[in-house]
Amino acid sequence: MNLRQLDKKHFGRRGKPEDIVVGNSVDSYLIDSRGRKYIDFMMGWCVGNLGWGNTEVRTAVGKFDGPDYVHPNYLYRPWTQLAEILARITPGKLAVSYRTTGGTESVEGALQIAMACTGRGKFVSIEDSYHGNSIATMSIGAAQNRETFKNLLPNCHKIKPPLDRKALGKIETLLKKRDVAAFIMEPIICNLGALVPDREFILGVRKLCTRYGTLFIADEVATGFGRTGKLFACEHFDLEPDILCVSKAITGGYGGLGAVITTSKIANAIKEDFGLYSTYGWHPRAVAAALANLRYLRRHQRKLLTNASRLGEHFLSRLAQMTFRGKATIQGKGFAIGIKLEDEAYASEVGDTCRENGLLISAEEDVLMFFPALTITRQTAQRGLDILEMSL
Ligand SMILES: Cc1ncc(COP(=O)(O)O)c(C=O)c1O
Repeated sequence: MNLRQLDKKHFGRRGKPEDIVVGNSVDSYLIDSRGRKYIDFMMGWCVGNLGWGNTEVRTAVGKFDGPDYVHPNYLYRPWTQLAEILARITPGKLAVSYRTTGGTESVEGALQIAMACTGRGKFVSIEDSYHGNSIATMSIGAAQNRETFKNLLPNCHKIKPPLDRKALGKIETLLKKRDVAAFIMEPIICNLGALVPDREFILGVRKLCTRYGTLFIADEVATGFGRTGKLFACEHFDLEPDILCVSKAITGGYGGLGAVITTSKIANAIKEDFGLYSTYGWHPRAVAAALANLRYLRRHQRKLLTNASRLGEHFLSRLAQMTFRGKATIQGKGFAIGIKLEDEAYASEVGDTCRENGLLISAEEDVLMFFPALTITRQTAQRGLDILEMSL
């Protein structure tokens, strides 16, 4: 049997794999098993923010000679170092990190913290959002999850975009009853085609949460670590969440790791009952990768964020000049850019043609997404955009 047949027989996945066999990856390129080089505008969907194969991170991982494993009940200095860095770089009063292995577990943990802290059981989220694939994270996610899984958690209310004054009014009606544990959203919604909410809306929700004792959870699993041109997307709005979820770009792809970060006040309030035990949370090797990755990011922060902001603007203006079949809504911030096409077949066709022409983009449902590395050069970005234009 060839690879495709074996994959079909033994590998669980939704639908068919894309027509590419991965060999290697370097900088902003992915190389297939036959040596063909593709420009990577996906970067693993917000994972490889520093480009693939960053020498410092790779060396730190290669040279790692610490323990094979550390039990969660022990003290381990690199854990404290990572938690301390996260406290320093995340917005507002966030100070205490809980260890997780990835994004779903981080959001799941955030929901649990909110329940433990408020003693409430309801949640409010944005309709059609994505926050992970556990039962709880699917319950706050897209309504279509409920078609496959009939008995997801009740009491999860969804707010339908546009995220405007009317939406804010609906949120106030829900929060007023003082039984909502948390409101959750991505500050820039990558999973809705990089939707950028109005400042008035997001800060309005923040105010309502404070007024009615609901916690504000910012899911920065996709937007974290520079993706939108700020270290965290919350910073675009001066938003201070009560809980922040991170993962994906925290190790740049070198290990599965995530974190739920909250304030000392909240962590102290739940200390006796809540620990978020995770056997493989913050595995020593993944922590070594995260530390090297974050140290690099911090040292080159200004240059990387400026590149994402400036080139991100350039992406938006070039995309605005391209001709798409039918209506195309272009939106985004920094290097989180989406195009809503309202035609699934066309989106999929564009994704396939780009790949055939040497460019990897995300084409899911009717949305095209672009998440280039923060390190991408203007020249490579231009070439990728030329390929996209030619592929339309
Ligand atoms: C915003 C957001 N939250 C949570 C998740 C879940 O993360 P993971 O796939 O690491 O479980 C994702 C994954 O794409 C995401 O985009």
